[in-house]
Amino acid sequence: MPQFFQDLIKTNKVKVDPSKDRTWLDERRKKMDAGWAEDYYTAKAEKERQSWLNDSLWSGNQPLQFTFENWVPAMQENDEQARNIGNQAWVMADRVIKGEQFNILMNGEPGTGKTSLALAIAWKAWQEAEMNFLFISTMELVSMFSQRFDDQEVAWRLDDLQKRAKNAPILILDDFGTEGGMKNEHGYYKPVRKDMQEWLYQVANARYDQITNSHKGVTIVTTNNASGELMQMYNPKLISRVITKRRPNVLNFDGLDDMRG
Ligand SMILES: Nc1ncnc2c1ncn2[C@@H]1O[C@H](COP(=O)(O)OP(=O)(O)OP(=O)(O)O)[C@@H](O)[C@H]1O
Ligand SMILES: [Mg+2]
Repeated sequence: MPQFFQDLIKTNKVKVDPSKDRTWLDERRKKMDAGWAEDYYTAKAEKERQSWLNDSLWSGNQPLQFTFENWVPAMQENDEQARNIGNQAWVMADRVIKGEQFNILMNGEPGTGKTSLALAIAWKAWQEAEMNFLFISTMELVSMFSQRFDDQEVAWRLDDLQKRAKNAPILILDDFGTEGGMKNEHGYYKPVRKDMQEWLYQVANARYDQITNSHKGVTIVTTNNASGELMQMYNPKLISRVITKRRPNVLNFDGLDDMRG
């Protein structure tokens, strides 16, 4: 008798004669195989998810988590607006889950909850559709660019990160525009360093199909800057590929308070 059947009989404490009862054993084996396949699949998906989280570029190396359950409109004086924004983000998450590929813009003052809702969308998409996301803190990215010539590791990491960013099902570009620094005395921002612009342009270009005018994957940008300001910092070709103007894809946080205070 095959070892497998012997083990099965032993562990299940059942008396079966495999020569007479093959069907029962075959059924049992199929079920166990399915169970193993499921465990294997879950482990593989979890490993994949961890690799996206690990490769993400978090502010201060601190991974963030935020879900729609964590969104509390009552924290805001204008709680109706906060509820409204939460609902709009929820609708966007559902579009992502249904497979729509588009750009999202979250615009507003510091501390109003942009990064939080970007993460809530990504988390819901993972839970309901196992979509992975890559988080890139733009400030961390610019600091990598300033280290890349002194540290070969950083240069390699930037290359890997770019490959991931091009292919991420969901890409979050967080705090886009802060790398532009302060306005000068004439009220203008100076252009962001060329190598970083080029790097981002390649990512944006890979995520956009010019012929069909369609987006590949979902790109979520959070920013404190208006798009006119971003155009002073970046090549307009990059801005038009990542910053959406389509109303249903824009979440405006103006009017909400800074929750960090
Ligand atoms: N409606 C809310 N419910 C629960 N927590 C909130 C809410 N709004 C903001 N917060 C919390 O306030 C803090 C700041 O929010 P968040 O980082 O999302 O703001 P932001 O708009 O991304 O700010 P910045 O422009 O500075 O990046 C976070 O700890 C976040 O969890
Ligand atoms: Mg933020």
